[in-house]
Amino acid sequence: MMKLTRALIAISSILSPVLAARDYDTHDYYAVHLKQGVRPEDVSSALDLHYDGPLGKLDDHHIFRTHRQHGYDHIETARKELKWRRRKREAGSDEPHALDHVLLSQKQELHKRFPLVKRNVLPPLVQEARLQRRQGEAPVDAAVQKGIDLAKALEIGDPIFQEQWHLYNHVQLGHDINVTGVWAQGITGKNSTVSIVDDGLDMDSDDLKDNYFAEGSYDFNDQRDDPKPRLSDDRHGTRCAGEVAAVKNDVCGVGVAYDSKVAGERILSAIISDADEAVAMNYAFEKNHIYSCSWGPPDDGTAMEGPGVLIRRAMVNGVQKGRQGLGSIYVFAIGNGAANDDNCNFDGYTNSIYSVSVGGIDRKGLHPYYSEKCSAQLVVTYSSGSGDAIHTTDVGQNKCYNSHGGTSAAGPLVAGIYALMLEVNPKLGWRDFQWLTALTAVKVENPGDWQLNKAFGREFSHQYGYGKADAWALVEAAKTWKNVKPQAWYYSPWQHVKHEVPQGDQGLASTVQVTAEMLKGANLERLEHVTVTMNVEHMRRGDLSVELRSPSGMVSHLATHRRNDNAAAGYVDWTFMSVAHWAESGIGNWTVVVKDTLVDDNKGSFTDWRLRLWGESIDASKQSLLPLPTDHDDDDHDREDAVVGTTSVAVPTETGVPAGNPTDHIDRPVNAKPTTTSSSTPTETSPAESLPATPTSTNSDFLPRPFPTFGASKRTQVWIYGAAVLIVIFLAALLGYYLYQRRKRARWMSRDDYGFEMVDHDDADGAVPGVVGGKKNRRAGELYDAFAEGSDGEDEPFGLGESSEDEEGDEHGKERYRDVEVPKEGEK
Ligand SMILES: *[C@@H]1O[C@H](CO)[C@@H](O)[C@H](O)[C@H]1NC(C)=O
Ligand SMILES: *[C@@H]1O[C@H](CO)[C@@H](O)[C@H](O)[C@H]1NC(C)=O
Ligand SMILES: *[C@@H]1O[C@H](CO)[C@@H](O)[C@H](O)[C@H]1NC(C)=O
Repeated sequence: MMKLTRALIAISSILSPVLAARDYDTHDYYAVHLKQGVRPEDVSSALDLHYDGPLGKLDDHHIFRTHRQHGYDHIETARKELKWRRRKREAGSDEPHALDHVLLSQKQELHKRFPLVKRNVLPPLVQEARLQRRQGEAPVDAAVQKGIDLAKALEIGDPIFQEQWHLYNHVQLGHDINVTGVWAQGITGKNSTVSIVDDGLDMDSDDLKDNYFAEGSYDFNDQRDDPKPRLSDDRHGTRCAGEVAAVKNDVCGVGVAYDSKVAGERILSAIISDADEAVAMNYAFEKNHIYSCSWGPPDDGTAMEGPGVLIRRAMVNGVQKGRQGLGSIYVFAIGNGAANDDNCNFDGYTNSIYSVSVGGIDRKGLHPYYSEKCSAQLVVTYSSGSGDAIHTTDVGQNKCYNSHGGTSAAGPLVAGIYALMLEVNPKLGWRDFQWLTALTAVKVENPGDWQLNKAFGREFSHQYGYGKADAWALVEAAKTWKNVKPQAWYYSPWQHVKHEVPQGDQGLASTVQVTAEMLKGANLERLEHVTVTMNVEHMRRGDLSVELRSPSGMVSHLATHRRNDNAAAGYVDWTFMSVAHWAESGIGNWTVVVKDTLVDDNKGSFTDWRLRLWGESIDASKQSLLPLPTDHDDDDHDREDAVVGTTSVAVPTETGVPAGNPTDHIDRPVNAKPTTTSSSTPTETSPAESLPATPTSTNSDFLPRPFPTFGASKRTQVWIYGAAVLIVIFLAALLGYYLYQRRKRARWMSRDDYGFEMVDHDDADGAVPGVVGGKKNRRAGELYDAFAEGSDGEDEPFGLGESSEDEEGDEHGKERYRDVEVPKEGEK
């Protein structure tokens, strides 16, 4: 009977490509990575779990399910029990076990995750701004006529086309994406598909339905085939979709690629698990070519969050297997937290090498107050500010919207341009899009920290990346582009620094030398992305900043000071990314400088770092594909070949000015053995966690100084403290008993038919993760609270997201997002 059911489940999962509906209220789900060739049904039945089907497009990844057991990890518990039995050498425990085939197992949690935030901004005070605009600016008559002629020639009869200044701007001439010349060649996105990963897509809108691509669409929040907007606030995705693919007809305006297909994946209308998000990132990836993502972790200047390992795997899987191996294209909005000192390198989605990060400029070509800067930003394009926003389609049969803004509105314009490029050259690989984008971007003639990348022959700035996207230039370049060779990479060994970071303008520098032989050995010809993974302990993370100097003297500001970031966490195996070194050779000395510019009591130390160079291979035939990431990729800090970096305290340098020769620095090499270094070397524990040292007492007090003596004699103190200790022990025992009972109850409820003994004494294994998990939960709760405050009223009288719950943060249907305040400078 069981077998039959299982067979039926297996068959149904093969027959229907539609995802198994998941109900997190009644079930627990486990994402499981099995050894190649192992049948998931065998493992799930051995573990007494149900097999729910494959995990999206990830090979050997599956979903197992069981009834909900609050706070209980079925697989992890089984693993611990097996481990314990094996340690005890219990009879039969050395036989092969299903768990031996499990490479990774992750219970899917909804409440642990940080919320994914839509990157729109509150609409500017539209009426007022429009009035200002009309009074202050006269459209150029000849340009207005040209717009009318253009529309006529292209047979665009859409009523708001003339308002869509981002497509053709007749007020600020030249401030548009320069697409009309592309359309005039008949290039309109045919055969391209963009998936809008967002809060839904109104496929019944008259402006979208003809281009709607149902096959690539899914509602991951309510588990239906169509991503129909259902919450009052589910408008963002539809507006983004309109920017890309609004149909040329008599409704609203047109999309950048108005003959392309557009799919919708609804993921933002409730919190989704990592497994489901991973499925979404690869959904229909043979046919969905471009994934447009206008969201990310909160832009409050305190979050430092990125995709979990399953999602990171899905993105690597997407670029390797999506689009028949040419690679899925992920376009991400860079984030709206500039006013909060936020920096897109603190967002693990935008700073992924697999995503194209798009920032904003406004209709006057100015830098809008919200658009973040960072070394991972590739390009910018138009969005809200200076009194207007993006005009697009809205939810409803025939409804338009004139206030779409934030970097949310910028990302989809680039996704639309990419759809045009795919029409003329469907063979472009995922990295070719990045090359073409960096090569053709038009420099924004505004002040910014522009630096010439000599190897690339292009200027880069942290505010604008390589400049603004020009549709005409991109499509022309795409027509004749020859694909770059496969991706190669070079990883430096871990550089151990273990040295306090001096405060003030000085920094702590560490250099790694990369030789031509190393890169030849890595089959790496020229650079594209550079990433630096690092560990820095600090009592206040926001005080830190980090620069990376390439051998040529290009400076990437990997991290910048963030005034709101009070976390006592430092950087823990965090990876920063830079696109500023594109096309450099990579050969020579690379220097990382960590600074703590605020002179105060919050101090820290630079533990270690590792440089990774990514780029084009020398010999394509020798190049293999990158293995999928694991959670242990950075666990090899202390391997034998880890070397001690040439560490020095740098002399003060002007930011942005290449420091040039590292021999300017006062060299202060640090020992290989951290335990034997000078007294300034901090201990392994982070400052925030370190306990006060236990002093050895020589005075007449029973306990050292921090403990009060109550003015009593040593003997009385012994008595008082002895009693106190007994009370503490008693309370601890009581707590232990309570936890024991709880566990026992959980076990009974688990319908677990293993006849295992209780393993409470083995809890040393579980204790530490438990604490860490608790910390995480609390942090997530804080983030939610921060969110609820800034909840969006927008044009809805009933703004959602008022609640600020900790424990209940996993409730479905709750909206948590944050919008930036009404634009200030943009309105002047
Ligand atoms: C904009 O497109 C036109 C062709 O329509 C082209 O001549 C012009 O160079 C483009 N502008 C830029 C800045 O590339
Ligand atoms: C669209 O794709 C189909 C199938 O690959 C191809 O036959 C057709 O020519 C393409 N159309 C355009 C306009 O590129
Ligand atoms: C690079 O660093 C090494 C020591 O790590 C040093 O010997 C060498 O002179 C440096 N090269 C340059 C060009 O500065």
